Amino acid sequence: MDDSRETFAPRAFVTGFPVKHSRSPIIHGHWLKTLALPGSYCTHEVAPEDFPAFVQSLKSGTSGFVGGNVTIPHKEMAFKLADEPDDLSCELGASNTLWLEDGKLKATNTDGQGFTANLDERHPGWDKSGSAVILGAGGASRAVVQAVRDRGVREIHLVNRTVARAVELADRFGMTVHPHPMGALAEVMKGAGLFINTTSLGMEGEAAPAIDFSPMQQNAVVTDIVYIPLMTPILAQAQAQGFATVDGLGMLLHQAAPGFEKWFGQRPVVDEVLRALIIADMEQH
Ligand code: ATR
Repeated sequence: MDDSRETFAPRAFVTGFPVKHSRSPIIHGHWLKTLALPGSYCTHEVAPEDFPAFVQSLKSGTSGFVGGNVTIPHKEMAFKLADEPDDLSCELGASNTLWLEDGKLKATNTDGQGFTANLDERHPGWDKSGSAVILGAGGASRAVVQAVRDRGVREIHLVNRTVARAVELADRFGMTVHPHPMGALAEVMKGAGLFINTTSLGMEGEAAPAIDFSPMQQNAVVTDIVYIPLMTPILAQAQAQGFATVDGLGMLLHQAAPGFEKWFGQRPVVDEVLRALIIADMEQH
């Protein structure tokens, strides 16, 4: 084991399968550099069958890591294997951030915080404007539904192609969340103040269906958790129809901050320099 680790240079990881395209090392590397903190953050690919042994090595300290991020397909397993998952993780059944504390492997899920912090930064007051429409009921939707509900949005309409998935997700989150089939979209958009796309529609050059945003409040905001491209077809349509939009890149940046603080001891700042770094990387790949 690296002797300098505990005293001087904590090591953190992002694990997934595959994980080599993760931009998390750029984010944490930037913060380590700008805050002049000792430490490192790397990708650490682990196959699903090896994940339990990896978690064991974290718990025992033999991995040399103080914690890290967990991405697809390990989020559910990370939650199950952690010693102390927090309440957010328990409700979601998935964790994206692990850290060692008092000899225990703790776990949380920061995706929802990332989502709300991005909107707080780019469109303050987003949570005060009536009902919300969330498109999609897959894995990425869960943390968003939880976060929007926890901010006190009174009514959340969850619309999904496969309505059974929307029903299942809505059931997890209580009375505020109403499941609907795609055909109900125009109806539930009436008077809504927030529209969120959590589906893969429009990702990486794929087409997205035409959406008429006009039934929403005039000052409504439209956001997309897809950030490749930054201006997704859904955001482009909303903007062309005169609605405020917030892109999804900030969610990626903000979800990283709580983990960084756990592993390296300081709360980092999401700023335009970091955003520009990631955009430059996206343009290269
Ligand atoms: P993720 O973890 O990224 O959310 P997922 O769990 O596979 O991935 O969920 C993808 C979401 O995009 C789902 O809501 C999916 O709808 P279904 O539940 O009906 O599959 C939605 N989605 C993907 N392709 C779609 C399409 N062509 N039209 C409508 N919805 C689509």
